[in-house]
Amino acid sequence: MRAPSFDTIVRGGTVVTAADTYRADIGIRDGRIAAIGCDLPKATETIDASGLLVMPGGIDSHVHIAQPSGDGIVMADDFESGTRSALLGGNTTVMPFCLQEKGVSLREALKGYHALADGNCFTDVSFHMIVSDPTPHVLGQEMPALAEEGYTSIKVFMTYEGLRLRDDEILATLDAAKRARQIVLVHCENEDAIRYLIGRREADGDTAPFHHATSRPIAAEREATHRALSLAEIVDTPIVIVHVSNREAMEEISRARHRGQKIAGETCPQYLVLTAEDLDLEDFEGAKFVCSPPPRDKESQAACWFGLETGIFDLYSSDHCPFRFDDANGKKTEKGRQSFRWIPNGIPGVATRLPILFSEGVRTGRIDINRFVALTSTNHAKLYVLYPQKGTIAVGSDADLTLWDPDLTKIVTNDDLGHGADYTPYEGMQVTGWPLKVLLRGKLAMDRGALVLEKGSGQYLSRKRSNLLGSEPIPGS
Ligand code: URP
Ligand code: ZN
Ligand code: ZN
Repeated sequence: MRAPSFDTIVRGGTVVTAADTYRADIGIRDGRIAAIGCDLPKATETIDASGLLVMPGGIDSHVHIAQPSGDGIVMADDFESGTRSALLGGNTTVMPFCLQEKGVSLREALKGYHALADGNCFTDVSFHMIVSDPTPHVLGQEMPALAEEGYTSIKVFMTYEGLRLRDDEILATLDAAKRARQIVLVHCENEDAIRYLIGRREADGDTAPFHHATSRPIAAEREATHRALSLAEIVDTPIVIVHVSNREAMEEISRARHRGQKIAGETCPQYLVLTAEDLDLEDFEGAKFVCSPPPRDKESQAACWFGLETGIFDLYSSDHCPFRFDDANGKKTEKGRQSFRWIPNGIPGVATRLPILFSEGVRTGRIDINRFVALTSTNHAKLYVLYPQKGTIAVGSDADLTLWDPDLTKIVTNDDLGHGADYTPYEGMQVTGWPLKVLLRGKLAMDRGALVLEKGSGQYLSRKRSNLLGSEPIPGS
């Protein structure tokens, strides 16, 4: 008897990529897509996808997992729960941050994160490094060596005491990253302005969670966005402006692009469906929505939708950064109850990212399904150099597939999301469109909310250097 041609065939679905939508079967062999066609012959296993969209697995290139977050604060997700939640939400790859704490080398930091992640993930994983201590050794030795080993992206902060870099440090880091051909992500908020405003609010007795939003105004984000873009222009290197929350920061990106700069822009679900009013809930409930930049207003929401529709944004990520609410090691830290200044920043969202964009974006006609795939998967793979292994449906690509029911209506509830937080900011939201099955490298990993593969099925992905930074070796690097 002849052996079956494929290990698995996903049959009868509507294949969706960033470019095309068509009916086809997908034949999978050894974890990769081996054929796309009509009426493919037999396989060991057949997965019926009729009535479903078959899309590349989601890639969430901005998540925080097990990240040290200050004295007595514990992030709600480890790699097991964070990637479990990602998988339940239709993702097959996530990109968490590896935080370099001051005085620690990047290599030491990476060692710690690998020890936490390796063998514990439900999805594939690749790290960005956060540079908080750009010593000559870090810039001159570690960054180029680590780029060689596949760590090809870093994040720098313009806010948060202990993390923020001064302008001269940002310039030096951008320069070192350019030489090492690493792409730099920038968190743009003006720390000095924010600290001044926090002091003012506290002096006035305005210490409730809502004042997290009033002490981080749009002008602080706009100014820092402009400054980051200017610093990148001075070094002549591309950057990624992450978690953009409003029109004015978007305008800075558009203007810089018109000047000829290469920039990627990212926004997140919280800027599409939440507002600062959510931080104004009674009984400290507003703390559930404390993140930076804060959600803004309806006009900012509309602007961010416009940015997704028109290409100002290339990336739509969750900025998943979960803390438990009813927990003294989470949002209800003793100091946080005294002042918003101490409430840990960040909200969960890796599981709800895709349903929110599908429901509010595709179903409403704001974006088409191909743009949905680009924003949630393909563009992340391209920017961070995982493409075409990841981020598309093509012969030779990893068979990372999300089988999506476009008509399934669900009420978002925390119990379904699999993360370690005890709440979701989207509790009670009605969404239409939900992931039914997910295949990770050809294996059924999630089926109707049930985990099929074991933890540890996710692999670490090292990455090549970004083409945005040129394809030739940089002299002297
Ligand atoms: O509030 C947020 N966004 N926390 C996560 C850290 C960051 O700035 O991305
Ligand atoms: Zn950030
Ligand atoms: Zn973040």
